[in-house]
Amino acid sequence: MSPSIRSIKGTADILPDASKQWQALEEKLHSFMTIHGYKEIRTPAFEHTNLFARGVGEDTDIVSKEMYSWVDQGGTALTLKPELTAPVVRAFIQHNLNKISPVTKLYYMDALFRRERPQKGRLRQFHQFGVEAFGSPHPEQDAEVIAIAWSFFQSLGIREMVLNLNSIGSSECRENYRSALQNFLRPHLGELSETSQQRFDTNPLRILDTKAPHEIEILKNAPLISEFLTSEDANHFREVKANLETLQIPYTLNNRMVRGLDYYTRTTFEITSGALGAQDALCGGGRYDNLVETLGGKPTPAIGFAAGVERLLLILESELIRENDSVHVYTVCLGDAPRSYIMEITHKLRKMGISVGTDMLRRSMKAQMREANKLNATLAIIVGETELENQTVVVKELKKGTQIEIPMEKLEEAVKS
Ligand code: HAM
Repeated sequence: MSPSIRSIKGTADILPDASKQWQALEEKLHSFMTIHGYKEIRTPAFEHTNLFARGVGEDTDIVSKEMYSWVDQGGTALTLKPELTAPVVRAFIQHNLNKISPVTKLYYMDALFRRERPQKGRLRQFHQFGVEAFGSPHPEQDAEVIAIAWSFFQSLGIREMVLNLNSIGSSECRENYRSALQNFLRPHLGELSETSQQRFDTNPLRILDTKAPHEIEILKNAPLISEFLTSEDANHFREVKANLETLQIPYTLNNRMVRGLDYYTRTTFEITSGALGAQDALCGGGRYDNLVETLGGKPTPAIGFAAGVERLLLILESELIRENDSVHVYTVCLGDAPRSYIMEITHKLRKMGISVGTDMLRRSMKAQMREANKLNATLAIIVGETELENQTVVVKELKKGTQIEIPMEKLEEAVKS
């Protein structure tokens, strides 16, 4: 026997028991987003590589190390999407969505691909749901997006949540801060890790994201970005915080939180959960007021977030309840003669919208009844040679154990009552 082929490291099959949870989550997401006025967008699994290089940033971990990219037979550089903001912005520009209404509110749930080191809560193919709101530069839009993330998690019963909030200001603010941070770090350059030394020139703000204790120690005295916000940035941030207070959403200011993608401006946020362990970010997002223009569209302010579905499912305290998925009826065939009659009955009931289980293994009556009980069926419809001849069926109430024989024409009525 040749060795069996297994799934790729960092990918996961979603088996039927688990997929019930996914379906329940999707249903909740669709109705939640509809209530909030967000409409679904679906984009292709792969895009031109330069969409991410330009959109997310050449120096980010995602673009420089983690993308699944290839050149196809026609010589085109392609990439499996590692995130959804750049593709959604691409679609927003391409289809002139700004012409339809001045504010465009979109949501999604999709599979993404990043070649990261797999561990609990970190996969190479994973799923996100998220929102992107285009058109409003105002702080109430920031608050709405953050509130959507917060209250969706809350509605699922997630506890131990912390909303980390920061403002990384406009480009002007970040330019000044970047120089100040480099000046501060220059005397410590020799003590920094190789990665941080590389980031010193390309993207010094990312050094703030370090997990190395000695670097955290050095950074304790580093200048803070809040000291570099322009007055417009500071006003915007003040109003975002005031709006969150109005909505009674508690937040923790986290001056060192820099997100791993280059497109952010002003508000950035992450919601973490203590229940998650090392990979504790349930979602991340922020404002990206320059991205539409960077990718070739008209200047359009925007903000969004994305949440990891696998991480969310890891810590859901209670199972998401979905409609009962047990069958209502199980059709039982005795002997060979009624086989096509049984198929016809099963087909007919299913067309009426009734969930029906049936045997595909030509098993004994005993085995079929066992299966009916396993599937939690309410009724068994039993047909043998006599019933076939008389065009009748036996309807058995499995809980009570009672049964009656009825003519075929009465079946619909009997099953529905
Ligand atoms: P991100 O922080 O890269 O942001 O990802 C958002 C969330 O996706 C994370 O907080 C985490 O829950 C989940 N996630 C990320 N990588 C993995 C992985 N390898 N395995 C499992 N889950 C993962 C973005 O992607 C931005 N596009 C968010 C955004 C939308 N910003 C503005 N709009």
